[in-house]
Amino acid sequence: MSTTSTAPMVTKEYSFYGVERLVDNSVTDFDLFISLERHFILYSGSGYKWNRMELNELLRAGHDQLYIRSQDLAKAAMYEAVVKLPMINRELAPPERIQHLEQVGAKFTQCLYEGDLTEACVEKARSLATAMTDCISEDRRCIQNLSGLADHDYYTYFHSVRVSAYSVAIAISLGLSDAALLNQIALGALFHDVGKKDVPQSLLNKSGPLTDAEWKIMRGHPEAGFGRLAESVLSHVPREIVLHHHERRNGLGYPHGLDKGSLLPEVQIATLADIFDALTSARSYQSKRSRYEALDFIRHKLLKEEVCPDSYRALISCLAA
Ligand SMILES: [Fe+2]
Ligand SMILES: [Fe+2]
Repeated sequence: MSTTSTAPMVTKEYSFYGVERLVDNSVTDFDLFISLERHFILYSGSGYKWNRMELNELLRAGHDQLYIRSQDLAKAAMYEAVVKLPMINRELAPPERIQHLEQVGAKFTQCLYEGDLTEACVEKARSLATAMTDCISEDRRCIQNLSGLADHDYYTYFHSVRVSAYSVAIAISLGLSDAALLNQIALGALFHDVGKKDVPQSLLNKSGPLTDAEWKIMRGHPEAGFGRLAESVLSHVPREIVLHHHERRNGLGYPHGLDKGSLLPEVQIATLADIFDALTSARSYQSKRSRYEALDFIRHKLLKEEVCPDSYRALISCLAA
């Protein structure tokens, strides 16, 4: 260890941070310090991009320990969790790539639920959103290869990434081709239920009907998610998707009772994707429907009044043989 006689005292404000925890070609969203003459000197500010050569040089010079402000340890934990996630293999054909995205996206969502919503987390979500848009732009029918995982315990983690995939496919079928907008839709859908971090797991997986008090907690998740994203640099469309994905075209949704005249088309796309994935997934309180049954249910119970007919037709076109 390099930090012997010249090391500053590690206080409550600063903790050790091993250089081996830094990953080539990654960006740290927290400050790191080096010890010089028993002082903490800023070595890399938030936003610093690391490369293998520099990491090797630090180790060679004996600086295997840097220092981090203790208040940034949660950020560092999220950085380490997301940089370990595999990169999406763009060599794969879209039907296999979407399955890879589904797995990696579910692991990402698990990190998101277990840690803090940090810049590293948003950056990883952006790269997943871009990979999603690229994959579905190549072949929108690849969404047929999404799993609809049977085990409801993992529903929460897989749900958001599938809603993201369905949303992008619907948007492309509706004629949207602007990659930046498609990325925003993918990103908003990835984060759409982030407010459920504030809902107890026991409530999310409850098999019986919810009490009025429990419904109140559950229905708070769009605003809770919007609040969590307030600090992030997400643009208007993703934030609207997070806040308004439970609104309905007849104005009977929540939290604001907006109607079809006030809801962004991108939000209505995500709403349909959200409903469709919920219907086709096994949950603690329902068995999963087939895709046909889900589409039939939407057509008879929700179309026009609650969900956008154009988006519905676009979804069918992606799922048709
Ligand atoms: Fe939701
Ligand atoms: Fe959802």
